[in-house]
Amino acid sequence: MLETSDASFADAAPTTASDPPVDPAFRDDVLRGLAEPIPSIPARWLYDRRGSELFDEITRLDAYYPTRTETTLLKSIMPEIAAALPTGLAVVEFGAGSATKSPLLLEAIHPSAYVPIDISGDYLHESAGAVDDRFGFPVLPVVADFTKALALPPEIEAAPKLGFFPGSTIGNFVPRSATDLLRHFRSLLGTGSRLLIGMDRVKPVDRLIAAYDDPQGVTAAFNTNLITRINRELGGTIPDAAFIHEARWNDMIGRIEMHLVATRDVDLTIEGQPFHFAQGSSIHTENSHKYGQRGSRLLLLAGGWTPVAEWSDPAGDFALILAEAQHNRFAP
Ligand code: AVI
Repeated sequence: MLETSDASFADAAPTTASDPPVDPAFRDDVLRGLAEPIPSIPARWLYDRRGSELFDEITRLDAYYPTRTETTLLKSIMPEIAAALPTGLAVVEFGAGSATKSPLLLEAIHPSAYVPIDISGDYLHESAGAVDDRFGFPVLPVVADFTKALALPPEIEAAPKLGFFPGSTIGNFVPRSATDLLRHFRSLLGTGSRLLIGMDRVKPVDRLIAAYDDPQGVTAAFNTNLITRINRELGGTIPDAAFIHEARWNDMIGRIEMHLVATRDVDLTIEGQPFHFAQGSSIHTENSHKYGQRGSRLLLLAGGWTPVAEWSDPAGDFALILAEAQHNRFAP
């Protein structure tokens, strides 16, 4: 359904000798992706344990504005959002990595239930536990990949639903797959449901590049950790410092791209399979699409969601959009 080159925020990797064997999907994605004419590895593999720690660090960097901006925005608009929503909603959160953001929503709207969905059981139970201890409504975690078919808990079947997809994670999917994902959310939540989604805005390139190539080098470590992971889990022979992190703005498509760029001609093997990279060639490891006002609304509409309200911070850096899964109408 969704392209393999897209993000899915799995903590799927074993990191110690006692962990289960290597995920065959990782091996397949790496071997296949590196053999492509434009070598790439799906962004989901950036998130092993170390990668997830580094991403947490990124969210606290001065240069990385999205997390801070979205959290502040959420706080300030909560009364308005709560007023725009009916009571008794079941909140379904796609990805449970936002333990700081969901309590803001839950506290304001007093849902009938909270259903966080995440592929990583550890992460999920940690953030579900934090909510469970604070609020009185049922917390019903679902361990699943939210990009794939899944079943919601039967307890919320009859409740009106609000999907919550913060963090501008939608930007990590190429538009074709982002549309598929939004349609998938719609069929999961049902006609009449609502979606509150965070989207990062297009902004001057120097700010975007700084956010994805910070002076402290945390994003560089996040990207190059993928090489460490390949060497550790797939018996790779990628030499130290053979690839460096680069963040590029692709203006035609409106996205930041992360690449690992060869600093010299490199010959390497992965699981015994040889690969050659010429100096300056790259492995594409992530996309982060940025949307203007019209573009974000069009994306939602293409995914079956009608935007009904939109908020952004005073600088216009980040947007939260409320959308509805309205009854399909025949085109005029
Ligand atoms: C998870 N995702 C929304 C982040 C982003 O901004 O696209 C991932 C990230 N990659 C580098 N820095 C942050």
